[in-house]
Amino acid sequence: MHPSSQTQKSWSPSSWRSRPIVQAPAYEDEAALAAVEERLHRYPPLVFAGEARRLKARLAAASRGEAFVLQGGACAESFDEFTADIVRDTFRVLLQMAVVLTFAAKVPVVKIGRMAGQYAKPRSSNTETIDGVTLPCYRGDIINGPEFTADARRADPQRMETGYFQSAGVMNLLRAFAHGGYANLHEVHRWNLGFVERSPLAARYRDLAHRIDETLSFMRACGLDSAAAQIDETEFYTSHEALLLPYEQALTRVDSTSDEYYDCSAHFLWIGDRTRQPDGAHVEFLRGVNNPIGIKVGPTTTVEDLEKLLEILNPNDEPGRITLISRMGKDKVRIHLPPLLDAVRKTGRTVTWMCDPMHGNTTTTSNKIKTRSFENVLGEVLGFFDVFADAGLRPGGVHLEMTGQDVTECIGGAQCLTEADLGDRYETFCDPRLNAEQSLEMAFLLAQELTSRAGKPE
Ligand code: PEP
Ligand code: CO
Repeated sequence: MHPSSQTQKSWSPSSWRSRPIVQAPAYEDEAALAAVEERLHRYPPLVFAGEARRLKARLAAASRGEAFVLQGGACAESFDEFTADIVRDTFRVLLQMAVVLTFAAKVPVVKIGRMAGQYAKPRSSNTETIDGVTLPCYRGDIINGPEFTADARRADPQRMETGYFQSAGVMNLLRAFAHGGYANLHEVHRWNLGFVERSPLAARYRDLAHRIDETLSFMRACGLDSAAAQIDETEFYTSHEALLLPYEQALTRVDSTSDEYYDCSAHFLWIGDRTRQPDGAHVEFLRGVNNPIGIKVGPTTTVEDLEKLLEILNPNDEPGRITLISRMGKDKVRIHLPPLLDAVRKTGRTVTWMCDPMHGNTTTTSNKIKTRSFENVLGEVLGFFDVFADAGLRPGGVHLEMTGQDVTECIGGAQCLTEADLGDRYETFCDPRLNAEQSLEMAFLLAQELTSRAGKPE
């Protein structure tokens, strides 16, 4: 027997508990924690194993360059923002971006929201000090509250149950939007193209938008509008960082058709840059569930660790199982990514590579506000595309922190947001997100890039 299959045998949904763990909250009331875990374990799954398997097949297609992945949503969802409008607006922008990217990439776009469960956050410090007062840091709404009071910052297990029910509510709405006709492209392409007029690239945007409209009209004239399920319905998947392991374990179920374990809290789960230690608890937990999983790959990821992670998490080299999410920073991507890409290629293993251009490009203004510049975010994706072009490979997709709301959190773009504008509608509790117009603008720019590269011989 292969040595790794041997280790696989000793996995159980709770085997992570005997591994070293980082980023875990300290719950004071262990009995209350156990009671919540016990209840969650009996609740219905939020997603089904069959759906996670279908997503795995789509991600496998992306690993071969036959699909392109668009993963996007808030850095952290907030319990206070549990409204239909917020879910609808982010869903709509993701769909609009997907239409633009499908047109350009000429392959299906796999749509994954950082939605319906993205409530837990890794933090760089365990505490926060304001005016000489030190309190535990905010770790996301599923753990504690963002307000700077001792009470809000206490880790409260009851929040896991609230997280479950809110995820169920968001999931229900997403399923209704995806299958109930909202996804009909003829609705979706009513773009909010306000940014087009403001942009120096206005003529090029208008041309692309016009060509998409023409194609849709042509399809309608051919009677293809309602016949093609791709047009009237859409597959939409959910994802979050698998950070809060008591919650993830409680949502883990044996699938009756395959007899395998799936974490039914979301279709796709990823391991963050701070919790990817090969012998750590988070890797241990994820190795035993059969969902497709992501691994964040940053400037500190070594070839050795990456090889170990691929062996531990995908010993049988199942296509679609592993998505590597590169988050290097605009300049570092050209230096750090090529050796990792090369090493993975040499192992002969199948992975899907995506670019997260957000987490390596966070800066702080003179007023201590976290922001990202649109130009740097775009710059990292272009660097990522270049690295892939140099290797003769097609990139698998992009991972963005964005929202359908008109917030002012990232600077730049055609709206020309400046540091002075950040105070207007800075609503994130965590990292700064691209707003609706910046997201769509990003999709148009990436589409142009994909189109012009597709024209070049490899
Ligand atoms: C995130 O995706 O929100 C995140 C914290 O990313 P990373 O782990 O790559 O820093
Ligand atoms: Co973030």
